[in-house]
Amino acid sequence: MESHPQNLVVLSHPLIRIKMTELRDHRTRHGRFRSLLSEIAGLMVYECTRDLDTHPVTVQTPLESCDGCRLTAPITVIPILRAGLGMTNGILNLMPEARVGHIGLYRDDETLDVHQYYAKFPPSAPEGRVFLVDPMLATGASAVAAVNLLQEAGCRDIKLICLVAAPEGVQAMIDAHPETMIYTAALDRGLNELGYILPGLGDAGDRIFGTV
Ligand code: URA
Repeated sequence: MESHPQNLVVLSHPLIRIKMTELRDHRTRHGRFRSLLSEIAGLMVYECTRDLDTHPVTVQTPLESCDGCRLTAPITVIPILRAGLGMTNGILNLMPEARVGHIGLYRDDETLDVHQYYAKFPPSAPEGRVFLVDPMLATGASAVAAVNLLQEAGCRDIKLICLVAAPEGVQAMIDAHPETMIYTAALDRGLNELGYILPGLGDAGDRIFGTV
């Protein structure tokens, strides 16, 4: 695991890098793309949950009692629509007890402002950790707006899980939400004039849902 300054963790495990290579390949079609995205999200969760609070419990094995632990606080996974949906099942496979909220955002093409068109969170979200999920951290505008929304809803323990981050997006998050850790599978070079990450993987939503 490679650590970067401030709020960024780049998860460069070989299994993640191998899967990322296939994911980026333009020949990878949507079915395989979805599977890879789920698998990578699952591998990333292992690291993002390392510091979760647990409390001791005792269970009875068939032979005797044994010390164990349970999660102390509820976990909420919140994909940003629509590409965030592609990572959600991979995360839930490892944390089936997590609840799921959704945030829908769109960008005004003229003003470039981000607007919310949907938001629904489990009532328990502010009591525990929230994993905000969006594969591409490009300009950072959506991630910043989503964290704003979550904070307004009372959430305090927020972590962003993305797949590919651009330095511009990381900087936007550092400026607006320095307390929010970002976990990414790759830190790419930068954005092109259309806001796509380079080298990136193209439009994540289109590649997940086959809308290209
Ligand atoms: N969103 C995407 O899907 N891809 C990018 O490269 C940037 C934003």
